[in-house]
This record gives sequence, structure tokens and C-alpha cells, in this order.
Amino acid sequence: MSAPEILSTGSCVPTQVVTNEMLAQRVDTSDEWVFSRTGIHSRRHCSGGENGVAMAAQAARQALERAGVKPEEVGVCLVATFTPDFASPSTACLLQRELGLLEDTICFDLNAACAGFVYALHTAHSLLSGASRPYALVLGCEVISRVLDMDDRSTCVLFGDGAGAVLVRRREDACWHTVFGSRGDDMSIRVQGPGPEKAAVHMEGQAVFRFAVEVAEKSVRQLLEQEGIGIGDLDWIVCHQANARITEFLAKRLRADASLFYQNIDHCGNTSAASIPLALDELQRAGGLRKGMRVLLVGFGGGLTWAGALLRW
Ligand code: UT7
Repeated sequence: MSAPEILSTGSCVPTQVVTNEMLAQRVDTSDEWVFSRTGIHSRRHCSGGENGVAMAAQAARQALERAGVKPEEVGVCLVATFTPDFASPSTACLLQRELGLLEDTICFDLNAACAGFVYALHTAHSLLSGASRPYALVLGCEVISRVLDMDDRSTCVLFGDGAGAVLVRRREDACWHTVFGSRGDDMSIRVQGPGPEKAAVHMEGQAVFRFAVEVAEKSVRQLLEQEGIGIGDLDWIVCHQANARITEFLAKRLRADASLFYQNIDHCGNTSAASIPLALDELQRAGGLRKGMRVLLVGFGGGLTWAGALLRW
């Protein structure tokens, strides 16, 4: 029996705010269409010298400072991302350099698209049992603007950039529950890899929408059953922020109050692996998270892949 204990959070978003109105100057769209279909008003996109490693470093520094933990006490550093600055070195290794993490720190990136943060949290927790030091930095960090076709209105309005971090310690006297799943035969979200074709996100929106509601509902029900509790016993559900309507559907299907679901998609857009830790950091800073609260995380997206976790704050 053991569980990851999240000791602190941190986040960083780029300075440039991109509103729906700004996008409507380039493609045939409107604030009304985007907001009513997704709940998004604006998102942040990297500009100038901003990049993933710099955002990740700022988010990680905040998490370390808030917990009063020094970089040399970190044994594991994982970054969930599908848009790293470099295919190699990994963002985690570049973060090691930025933060001054010790040489025997386990550092690597992990790609499970929008479910990546929960995969990284689970992996970090497992790795901590054999690590040299007790703390893990777990991040979601994306610069999705670098793989967007800004002339494709069906995708360019959806995504934002950002990084979120948590600092985790392994607790042996607690337990948590997780669920994972993949459907590798379904390529309804694709991002072209390196090659002659221009990098761009392709998504069959309605199929992905149905998938998201289905697996998120299934994950929440499985996690509640594993813990032996009802939906009313949860303090928060923090879903991957893909579309406010997905969350509304989910709340209806679970017969849960919409206020149980934390949402920040209106000003962040879909930041893939960064969305859950970004939301956790906002929630923490707003004073919404207290020790002992039951928090359920659920991510879903490209792969297709999904992951859920039920933990105590
Ligand atoms: O993060 C990974 C997980 N991702 C998700 O979970 C996303 C799931 N899917 C969705 O959130 C929604 O399907 C979208 C927001 C992506 C799209 O919303 P939709 O209600 O499913 O719209 P649609 O794709 O069915 O398109 C409806 C119409 C189309 O026009 P026609 O063919 O009916 O004439 C589109 O061309 O809306 C048009 N359209 C737009 N119109 C104005 C598509 N994008 C836009 C746009 N502005 N930005």
C-alpha cells in the first residue's frame, strides 16, 4: 500500500493572450461559435523567446519553493509532453540542467497525449520506491502552437500552451486508485511526426467527443467503485480541459453537480498534458484544495489513451 502525496504545485503560461476575436481575423470563426461549442474565450501561445523548457522550469521552481524542497532532494523528474522543444534531449533532461538536479536523478519525457500527466504521476510514484531521494517533480508541458495549422479553423481555436508542475512524495501509509486504457486502433486524433509533411493536429471532433465522454464516465465510475465511495464523497473532479461541454455531459451522466468539476478552459484552452496540473495549480492558489480532500483526476486524448486517479490531497 502506498500513494503519491502532492505537496505543492506550480505553473507557467506564455505572456501572449490569443482571444477568439484575434483568431477570427485570420480564419472564418467567431467568439460566439468557439465559446458556445467549447467554453473557450482565450488561450496563451508562446511568442518571442518563450519555449517549453523555460515554462517547465518556472513551474517546477514554484512547486519546489512552495514545498520548501531543494533541487538536490529531487530523485525523479518526469515531463508529460507531445510537443517538446527537442525530440532529444528530453524536456526533463533540460529541466535537470535548468534546476541543477543531481546527476543520478531519473529524468525522462513521456508521451500519452492529453492523458500524459496521470501516466507521469503513476510512473513517478512507482520510480520513487527505487530512487535515491524522496521527491519527484511531475510536469505536463506543451507548446501546441508549434504544431497547429493556424489556417485550420477546426483545430487552431482549440489549443493553448502552458506548463504545470507538482512536487510529489511517496507515502507508504496511504493508498490511491488508478485506471488506464488505450485504443491504438483509433487514430481520430493525429499529429504528424517529423517528415516532409507540415506538422499539424488533425482531429475528428465528434468521434473524439463521444470517446471522451464515454471513457471519462467509465473511469470515474471505476475509481469510485475501487474506493468504495459515491460521487458525493468527492471534493473535486479535475478533468483534462478539452471542452466545457464534455464536462457538462459528464456531470449529467454521473448525476453530479457541475460545481464538482474544476474548469479553467475559458482562459487556457486545451493544453493537453499540461491541463490537469495547470488546473490543480489554479485551484491550489485559489485556496480550493485542503489536506485530506478527495480529488479525482481524469485525462483522455490522442492514442487514443485515457487515465484516471483518485487520491487524497
Ligand atoms: O484533447 C483531446 C481530446 N479532445 C477532445 O475531447 C475534443 C472533442 N471534440 C470537440 O470538442 C468538438 O467536436 C469540437 C469543438 C472540436 C468541434 O465541435 P462540433 O460541435 O463537434 O463541430 P463540428 O466539428 O461538427 O463542426 C460543425 C460545423 C462544421 O461546418 P458544417 O460542415 O456543418 O458546415 C465545421 O466546418 O462547424 C464548422 N466549424 C467551425 N465554424 C466556425 C468547425 N470549426 C469552426 C470554427 N468556427 N472554429
